[in-house]
Amino acid sequence: MDVRRRINELSRLLLHHQHLYYVLSRPEITDLEYDRLLQELAELEKRYPQWASINSPTRRVGSDLDNSLEEHPHTVEVLSLDKEYITAEVVDWMGKLADRHGDSTGFVVEEKLDGASVVLYYRNGELERALTRGDGNTGNDVTANVRTIPSVPLILGSAQDLVVRGEVFMHRDDFQTFNQALENRYTSPRNLAAGTLRQLKSSQVARVPLRFNGYEAWMDAGKFAWSPEGTSLSLETDHVARLSYLQTAGFRMKGHAGFFCRDAGRCREVSQRLPELTVGTPADLESFVNQARDRRGRLNYEIDGLVIKINEIPLRESLGATAHHPRWAVAFKFDAPEAETRLSGIQIQVGRNGRVTPVAELEPVTVGGSTVSRATLHNQEYINALELRVGDLVQISRRGDVIPAVEKVVEPAGDGGTVFHLPNHCPFCGSGLVRQGAHHFCPNRNCPERQRRALIHFTGRGQMDIESLGEKTIHFLYERGLVRRIPDIYTFDPDQLSGEPGFKQRKIAAIREGVEASRNRPFSRVLVALGIEGIGNAAVRLLIENGFDSMQKLIDTAARGDPGSFAAIHGFGETTAGALVNYFQDNQNLSMIRELEACGLQMQAQNETGASDRSLENTVWIITGSFNHFSPRSRAEKEIIQRGGRIASSVTHSTTHLLKGESPGSKLKKAVETGLIIVDEDRFLDMLSTK
Ligand code: IVH
Repeated sequence: MDVRRRINELSRLLLHHQHLYYVLSRPEITDLEYDRLLQELAELEKRYPQWASINSPTRRVGSDLDNSLEEHPHTVEVLSLDKEYITAEVVDWMGKLADRHGDSTGFVVEEKLDGASVVLYYRNGELERALTRGDGNTGNDVTANVRTIPSVPLILGSAQDLVVRGEVFMHRDDFQTFNQALENRYTSPRNLAAGTLRQLKSSQVARVPLRFNGYEAWMDAGKFAWSPEGTSLSLETDHVARLSYLQTAGFRMKGHAGFFCRDAGRCREVSQRLPELTVGTPADLESFVNQARDRRGRLNYEIDGLVIKINEIPLRESLGATAHHPRWAVAFKFDAPEAETRLSGIQIQVGRNGRVTPVAELEPVTVGGSTVSRATLHNQEYINALELRVGDLVQISRRGDVIPAVEKVVEPAGDGGTVFHLPNHCPFCGSGLVRQGAHHFCPNRNCPERQRRALIHFTGRGQMDIESLGEKTIHFLYERGLVRRIPDIYTFDPDQLSGEPGFKQRKIAAIREGVEASRNRPFSRVLVALGIEGIGNAAVRLLIENGFDSMQKLIDTAARGDPGSFAAIHGFGETTAGALVNYFQDNQNLSMIRELEACGLQMQAQNETGASDRSLENTVWIITGSFNHFSPRSRAEKEIIQRGGRIASSVTHSTTHLLKGESPGSKLKKAVETGLIIVDEDRFLDMLSTK
């Protein structure tokens, strides 16, 4: 019995810490302590399988058994929103409803996350089943896969039945990192999330950084404990109360949401219970929508619009639904980030590691607010799948800051040409291209383009950051034979450039200073700068955190020829581990590293936890109020500056964010008027930790 109690206790404890870590981004114990608890639980479950729960935190890692993805009926109505409105129509719709049903009718506005819709069924407080939306009546059973998503609570606080609908989605930066390592890449975080959800092996799903956000709940409200705290809100009657309950039950409820109502008293009550909501009258909707549209490109996740929902559940029920959409909610869709244009050519790029990437040359077109004239085509298979010919009219998309993609051929070129085929030889060095998996590679490590790309990466921003050695300068130095290999950067004499066109004394001095300054870049930067396949900021941070904090340790580990010690790092795949071993076993690389060491570069981490995080680059912050985690306030300033952001003392046209603490000052009002992004402490912590 004691064992059973301990299993139970460990499960709850671990789920609690998972919630602190993944949902609140505020861990209270170290990774090591967490691992110990998990280990203890895993051992007990192995010895006493009869007491192991299906919702044990040990299940987050998934299983290698095939999922059946069986069909299962929904027991709630899983409707969709089909019509999309413009702001004036929505304000009109809200007005009519409030006229008819009273001024206290409230409207909740939520971000419309662009992911995959999932319904979670809890029984007796435990996650029992997760279904995809399917056709609305029947969905596919994806329970085992959903269990691996850290932000899905497996056990609720109390033994109730609950149904939660929400979106499985991915952060953009997670998508970039993860997608890059895939053989067959996805074109958007949405497609990767949806594709992953339907995978057969949940152990594969567990490796993908998926997230879950809940936005609708069905419950027998009388049975749930939730306090309205001096307001008239209740779980029976108010969607906002249900959102608040979901939050306390451990669901991630991030995002910008609003509550709009003619009745100021109602607004106050909602604000009192859910201070993170923007509140206002229906007339304020327009400015909320404009801010959301503005903010959209800067969010770390993709939204394709807003959903405007009636707050009052009884009113929702009386309005009902048509066959496929409710009468109590409408969607407000942002301009589709898509456009049509002509494919004027296909250029071949060769990367520093030899990978050949076909790049579409497009007749310039505006998509999602910026002009696009190039888009990646990934590889030959991607071109084949689209049956792409030069001259085709194509549809391209651009979602946020994700690289533009060619989605499909709208109208084939009229001349009956053939599908584009990659050349057999490298256009830069003439070597025969070799195919590995889905990609073609130039196998010649002395290929001038590969060398140039390696140099450009090395000096680039976020790596050694030698601003005076940009792409054009590198090309010039390469052509002149002054810099061919990375160590040449530290040994060539910039004075040799004297008298060359475009190289005035100022520029030469800047090169010398830039190169000098780069010698002090921390080890993490040096490691990223080497340009090893798959080893970017995130991977380097993981390496250092896991004790691989010097070049020598990496070399020694690789020398043992065992990718296992790298692959054992949570978040590392076999491909990346293999790439590390190959890189550090190679004699040319090793001698280059020795040369760089002799040039004074940092070969060992010094009190650094990871590579530079530039996630706040191009942001300008003002700070108001006081904070729990950042006292004195300069600690928050430091976090911002470290990530490439800037601090301003007052709101000007260049200010982008306001960090809002408790008892904010007058800056807040100004910031709201100017439409700045307002970030509270929770959200700020989230921003700092999600990179
Ligand atoms: S409410 C019947 N709220 O948008 C009400 N949907 O067609 C519909 N979505 O596929 C659901 N974010 O997956 C709702 N905050 C949100 C949402 C949201 C994204 C998706 C949903 C569905 C589509 C609506």
